[in-house]
This record gives sequence, structure tokens and C-alpha cells, in this order.
Amino acid sequence: MKIRRVSGEERLRTSFPLQSYAFDKSPTEQAVSAHYREVLPYHSGNHTLIAEENGATVAAVSAIPMRQNIRGSILPMAGVAGVATHPLARRQGYVRALLNRLLEAMRDDGHPVSVLYPFRTSFYARFGYVSLPQHRTATFSPAGLADLARATLPGDLRWRRIADGYADHRALTQRLMARQHGFSIFPDFRAVSLRDDRKWAVTAHVDGQVVGALSYRIDEHLGQLSADTLLHTGPHGRALLLSFLARHVDQVDRVNLWLLPGETPELWADDFAVETKTDVRVPGSAAPMARVLSLEGLAGIATGPAALTVEVVDDPLLAGRYHLDGTSGALAVERSAAPAAATLTAAGLSALVYGVLDPVEIVLRRLGRFPAETAGALRDLFPPQRPYVYAEF
Ligand SMILES: CC(C)(COP(=O)(O)OP(=O)(O)OC[C@H]1O[C@@H](n2cnc3c(N)ncnc32)[C@H](O)[C@@H]1OP(=O)(O)O)[C@@H](O)C(=O)NCCC(=O)NCCS
Repeated sequence: MKIRRVSGEERLRTSFPLQSYAFDKSPTEQAVSAHYREVLPYHSGNHTLIAEENGATVAAVSAIPMRQNIRGSILPMAGVAGVATHPLARRQGYVRALLNRLLEAMRDDGHPVSVLYPFRTSFYARFGYVSLPQHRTATFSPAGLADLARATLPGDLRWRRIADGYADHRALTQRLMARQHGFSIFPDFRAVSLRDDRKWAVTAHVDGQVVGALSYRIDEHLGQLSADTLLHTGPHGRALLLSFLARHVDQVDRVNLWLLPGETPELWADDFAVETKTDVRVPGSAAPMARVLSLEGLAGIATGPAALTVEVVDDPLLAGRYHLDGTSGALAVERSAAPAAATLTAAGLSALVYGVLDPVEIVLRRLGRFPAETAGALRDLFPPQRPYVYAEF
């Protein structure tokens, strides 16, 4: 097997045909190549590796150089996508070899964390990933928001094609990333795929600042308005966007949109009928997963006042002993030869850093081994937090 990096038009002959077979309906050759040529620019900065046998591509993996908020610090993040093996070459270790190489390359390139959307969580658990919370959607009739349509709200709304509203939408995602643990955004070359989409955008503005943005399309007259995430910085932005949706009462039967974490749509109006849903299906609609690629790369993230030595085991990227010191309020990381207070797998460590599992659960899930008294120190060092991954890929 030969592993090599591909870029540009070479993707059309190597990685894309495998991805197309794995993830698309069976189309005609022509439709595939026209579509993939069109989306080529959105992959231009990806790190793509392929495995070859006798010159033929048998497997491919990619990483998108993204950014993510980790406990208040914005860090480079490797978004893994396009993982596919030729149907006759599956279960022969190709993806294991490619993924290990890809994650090592992304770590060496300064990405201390990685996120992906798994087809099956057990597959990526073998690679040190741990599940993060799944997004929620809300479905409701705009009629339920009638009061908001009549309310006098500070600020104003702008309604445009996404091509024209994209800059405001993008600016808001960048602001939200700075505020929310786990929030991640695409690099420009990929984010512009939204700008080029056939969608509408409504943005909310207060005092010259973008405080809300929603991209959407109307699927059918008197049918559904399907929106992306209801992005806002707080009650003003949200109320303005909801008042916009309320004005579609004679145009669509229902609105479906994605929610930011912590939203309580049942409180948006009186007598408001709304269905919120967390859809987790495996395979099909699994929650995102994340892992740490470099502990040293996390130096400086906000921590609680605790210090201890941990040993990370069974992982080609992280294996070793580290002293983690959060007593200054920011994480300091040093390789150490001191006895370790806790043994952690990469997934166990990642669960602590992302704040998604309690130390007790880490032991129960066999993602780590440590005495009960160490659980307190780990909890103090990495207090629980709810990460929210914005970008879908
Ligand atoms: C999923 C897929 C990428 C796996 O590729 P592969 O080259 O067959 O994987 P490998 O042979 O390298 O297997 C890696 C490990 O995962 C295990 N594994 C493979 N397929 C698995 C599956 N479907 N479920 C759970 N574990 C699986 C292997 O046993 C192996 O474990 P080990 O190294 O501990 O022995 C491939 O089957 C595929 O292309 N599927 C269709 C597209 C897809 O679903 N891609 C994933 C998108 S997130």
C-alpha cells in the first residue's frame, strides 16, 4: 500500500469517486463529475490522503482546517470528513492506516483537537474520539408567534439572498465562536459554500451590530420553511428573527430550524405549540465526536484550580505522562516522569477536556482508571461544560 497526499483536480480521479460511491445516490457518471467539479473549490484547502494499490485508489480520508472554541480559547481544529474505502477493499486496515497518518499530520501542523460526524460511534471510539451532545431542532407553525409579529422591537431586519447576506451571517458565526465552548467554524474556502447556495438570509441588527442571522429556504408554498441554525447573540436578535418568521403565517404551514444550545422554544410565546427533537440514529444521524490530538497544544485553555499527573495510554498520538497544572486558571502542560494519579485513554482525556463526561463515568466506561479521590481533582481541573459544535460537515 502507498499513502500519498492529493490536491486540486486530482481529487476528481482519486478521493471523490470513492466518496461519491459511499455517500451519494447512484447517479450517472456525468452528473457525478459535473457536481464534483463544481464543489472542488470548497475542498481546496483540505488535507486529503489516499491509499493506493497498484496505482488504484482504495481508500481516502480528509481533514478540513477549522477553528474551535475550547473552554474559551480559539484553537485550530481538524474536521475529519470524506472517510471512505473501495467496497472490495473494506475491513483490510486501509482507513486505520490513513486516519492515523492524517491525525498525526494535522497535529504536527498545529491542530490540537479534531471533530467529526461519525457513521457509527464505536468505529471512531477506536480512534480516541468521544461523543459530544447532539443538536436539537424545533418545528412549529408561524401562527404561534403572532404576538411577536405585532410587537415593537428595537433594531431592524434585513432580508436578502444568502449571497448578499453572507458577510453578516459569517461575521455573526465568528462572534458566537468566541463566546461558546465547542463552537466551530469552517475556513473561508469552505464556508463560502453557504454563500453560493440557493437560500435566503434574514439578519437582525441592533445599533449597527448583527445580533441574529438565519439562512433558510421555502420547500413548498403552504408547506415547510426549512432553516439552518437560529443564530443570535441574545433575546433581541432572537425576537427579531422570530417576528420575521411569524410574518410567514399565510405562506408556510410550519417552520423547522436548528437550535443553539440552551434554547427553550416552549417559552417563546403563550399557547405556543412546538416540537423539539434530538435525532440520533446510528448509522445515519449520530452526534458529533471529538478528540484531543496534542495535550501541549491545549496549554493556556481555561481550567479550574487543580494539578495532577496523568498517563495517556493506548494512543499513537498522545501516549505518555503529563503534568497538568491549572492552578493559575490556565492550563500548563509538561511531560513528566512522576507517578501518574490517573491513567486515561485518548477518549477519556478528550471527554474531560470537552467537559462531557464526569470522571466517575470515565471509569465506568473503561476510558480511564484512577482512585475515587482523583476524580475530584480531575473534576476541578476540567469542570463540566456543554460543548456545541456549530459546523455540519
Ligand atoms: C467505514 C469504512 C470507512 C471503514 O473503512 P475500512 O478501510 O474498511 O476500515 P479498517 O479496515 O481500516 O478498519 C478499522 C477498524 O475499524 C473496524 N471496523 C471496520 N468497519 C467497521 C464498522 N462498519 N463498524 C465498526 N467497526 C468497523 C475494523 O475492524 C478495524 O478495527 P481494528 O483496527 O481495531 O481491527 C468503510 O467500510 C466504508 O467506506 N464505508 C462506507 C462509507 C462510510 O460509512 N464512511 C464513514 C463516514 S464517517
